Amino acid sequence: MTRQACLACAQETSELDPATRCRACGGLLDVWHPEPPVTGQALRTLFDSRMSPLSSPASPSSGVWRFRELVLPGAAAGVVSYPEGNTPLLARESLSIWTGVPALALKHEGENPTGSFKDRGMTVGLTQARRIGARAVVCASTGNTSASLAAYGAQAGLPVFVLIPEGKVALGKLAQTLAYGARVLAVRGDFDTCLGLVEDSAERLGLYLLNSVNPFRIEGQKTIIFELLQQRAWRAPDWIVLPGGNLGNTAAFGKALQEALALGLCDRLSRLAVVQAAGAAPFAQSFAEGFRHRYELRAETVATAIRIGNPASWERAVRAIRATNGVVLSVPDEEILAAKSVVDRAGVGCEPASAAGVAGLRRLVGSGTVSPEESVVVILTGHLLKDPEIVLEDAKVGTAGIREIDPTLAALKAAVEG
Ligand code: F0G
Repeated sequence: MTRQACLACAQETSELDPATRCRACGGLLDVWHPEPPVTGQALRTLFDSRMSPLSSPASPSSGVWRFRELVLPGAAAGVVSYPEGNTPLLARESLSIWTGVPALALKHEGENPTGSFKDRGMTVGLTQARRIGARAVVCASTGNTSASLAAYGAQAGLPVFVLIPEGKVALGKLAQTLAYGARVLAVRGDFDTCLGLVEDSAERLGLYLLNSVNPFRIEGQKTIIFELLQQRAWRAPDWIVLPGGNLGNTAAFGKALQEALALGLCDRLSRLAVVQAAGAAPFAQSFAEGFRHRYELRAETVATAIRIGNPASWERAVRAIRATNGVVLSVPDEEILAAKSVVDRAGVGCEPASAAGVAGLRRLVGSGTVSPEESVVVILTGHLLKDPEIVLEDAKVGTAGIREIDPTLAALKAAVEG
């Protein structure tokens, strides 16, 4: 049977307990599944056999549910799926040159149904919401979680409430959340305030909390790792680089890598490199001191998705960094924007938070932590169109901006030749 266990005090609870933290001590929960019927090569073959895009409707071609034995084995019926996942691994010469890593691939999670990796967690989160009979769902969000929850909640037929930091959510994300029909509450405070409020009140108000503190979200996000291993013929890269905000993905990646190794899906652990924005880097600060203190700060960065000062999945993320011999660093906003521009000009595109990973990799190569001979996968977490304001602001001041012309051949000729 699948069960939940507290990371802090080891207290166990059933898989259908709706609490998103340990009832005994308030610690974070992990979901643990029974060992799958087969392991090693047989398990790889099973997952590979489900790769066909024409798989049956009963077994949709979801890049999450393809790995269902490791995600939520009990969810045979009633799965809420778009489907999601199946995102590409991209190699781009300009990015290899800019970062200094020839064997670089970008896994573009912005190609999920709502344009971010959150869909991998939400398909599991809403499936679990149905299993426990939730009547309404809620999250706090910097924008992507809310867009994803709104879409999957609509698909599940459940009322959705989202709390967002007033004035600090990128336009694309806000538009999506409204369009999918969520009730949007703009809180006078930052993301950390919003999350604190929903954590304190969700259960009391009869709302099922679907932030990544919810361990079922983590189970879905593990499939980013399973899928990238599968795309690389089950050969783990030397490094996996990702941006860190609330640290749900960091937690999911560490758990996935350890499970993949234990089940014989791969033969070694990749090292994780987590990149925070310099103005929102409590985890990087703590890493530099051997994780002796937990920091909490008032966050500020142009990358609004990771404008987070008190990450919820802290203890899970410490475990992930320790288990994978990982590193945590921070990069200033200027480098995030420079990296974004290189990703955009490669014809790939991503939102600012995603570019933090690319900027971080360049720094890690510069400092000698990552060697140019190593293989690296950077996770692009969100789509370019999530944050159109930042692109338009840049165009207004940049040389490659928009130029107004008269509707004449002469004006067009001058523009083309000039
Ligand atoms: N990248 C993007 C595009 C995100 O939206 C987020 C988090 C992260 C990175 C950081 O991931 O929290 O797992 O460390 N966005 C959350 C939200 C907080 O509400 O959409 P993390």
